[in-house]
Amino acid sequence: MSTDFAPQRPAVTPLAEGLVSRTFPAAVSADGKPDRASAAFVRAVEQGFYEPWHSDEQLERLVPTFVESGQEQTGVYVDRGFAGLEPWGEALEELGFDAEHPVGTFVDYHQTLNAGGAEPLPVQLITGVTVNAGFRRRGILKHMMTSRLAQAVEDGLPLAALTVSEGSIYGRFGFGAATRLRGLQINARSSGESFALRTAPIGTVLEVDPSKSEKVLKEVFAAFHRGTRGSVGRQAFYWKVGTARWDPENITSWDRKTRLLVHVREDGSIGGYAVITFEGWDTEPATMRVRDLIAADATSRIELMRHLAAMDLVERITTPNGSPVDDPLQQALVNPRAAKTTSLGDVLWVRVLNPVTALESREWNADGEFSLSITDALGICAGTFTVSVSGGVAQVSSTESTTTPQHFSLDVETLGSLYLGDVSVLTMREAGRIIADDAADWDAFSATFDLPTAPHCATHF
Ligand SMILES: CC(C)(COP(=O)(O)OP(=O)(O)OC[C@H]1O[C@@H](n2cnc3c(N)ncnc32)[C@H](O)[C@@H]1OP(=O)(O)O)[C@@H](O)C(=O)NCCC(=O)NCCS
Repeated sequence: MSTDFAPQRPAVTPLAEGLVSRTFPAAVSADGKPDRASAAFVRAVEQGFYEPWHSDEQLERLVPTFVESGQEQTGVYVDRGFAGLEPWGEALEELGFDAEHPVGTFVDYHQTLNAGGAEPLPVQLITGVTVNAGFRRRGILKHMMTSRLAQAVEDGLPLAALTVSEGSIYGRFGFGAATRLRGLQINARSSGESFALRTAPIGTVLEVDPSKSEKVLKEVFAAFHRGTRGSVGRQAFYWKVGTARWDPENITSWDRKTRLLVHVREDGSIGGYAVITFEGWDTEPATMRVRDLIAADATSRIELMRHLAAMDLVERITTPNGSPVDDPLQQALVNPRAAKTTSLGDVLWVRVLNPVTALESREWNADGEFSLSITDALGICAGTFTVSVSGGVAQVSSTESTTTPQHFSLDVETLGSLYLGDVSVLTMREAGRIIADDAADWDAFSATFDLPTAPHCATHF
């Protein structure tokens, strides 16, 4: 029997005595300067990641971009009245940061995620998660996460997503590692494991003035985002850095090392760009670092690499921020060893909030029917769902029946890892993370669920 489904708000973990929490939008005051609470919040985030203390000038540039993204800032603060009664209260009063500096920070905002369906879906992106070292392991993260996931459920968002500093933190909240990136080191010499491509060049690569290119960067990214399963929408930081206006080391300066390449197709349209930096003459071999390479299609991606490898004096190309796991470049090389993998790591972690919307907006490989029982420790989307895929589109509904032969059980973290197609249901079965009756046809399930290529999220946030 099919029933209506509404995700449940998770229970919000209460804060320990003496701590209070406040959520407010990133804001600038009437004079254009960052609002005091936002400025203190952003400084606390940087401290939480052991980064330098932001200057006022840096905050004047940074905070407006957070306002533009619609960031909601959740801070946890020490209640000064409570602290005054503690042995450490006097020291905090005399030596501590001002009262508007939080001891816990959590940022979220709305963006879109391409799950391979007809349209990208709305997603709650989470970032800036820190807890002051003196206040760790007393439930501050649990409070911030449960209260903001509760808000995402209220806002009707089908998914939440984040990137992680440590892989052990977020599984307990239902997030599963869902996309990966590969770091490459490419030999640009014509000797050794030499670089050469199997295909003839198409179009032209030009080095252009980064300061004139914001519109082009945005347009190319928009085309990439529309066409790439796993992509999430980008924040303003990428346009500031890509146009050389912000040096990531100090955003009040231009980045005079940034160079920008664009691939111009044969019809004159721009299909891709690469933001690159030369590592300097002291680095051996002479290395060009690709900081960001976005292309609307594989041809533009390969042509940008061809150009980089052909640059005089350059002997090595690196992509430390990551290339796609299924990079067509690898197969376009005459010598596959010309590109060496230097890293392989997760990027996007996905948390399903509403399985009906999430599964109906996903790409499917073939027609099929099955039911899924999902367990969820936070109780947001626990239940059983029937999924019927026809013509590449799924119809999903909540059900109370678990008696169909094609019935599979998994937890919400596992569903997050499967969602964008980075891992097969058959691998998850081998790992003991999906179970089914003996009658289940795993090959049919895999044929419907598993996708032919890996997802690609090129955005770090
Ligand atoms: C990660 C961090 C935010 C955790 O904050 P916290 O307030 O100490 O976390 P909580 O007390 O709410 O702990 C929640 C649960 O996560 C676990 N946990 C917290 N941090 C963990 C870590 N780094 N590794 C493994 N488990 C962790 C806790 O043991 C607790 O487990 P439980 O559910 O079994 O009780 C904090 O340690 C921090 O600021 N780290 C440095 C910055 C960082 O890495 N931020 C994450 C960015 S993605």
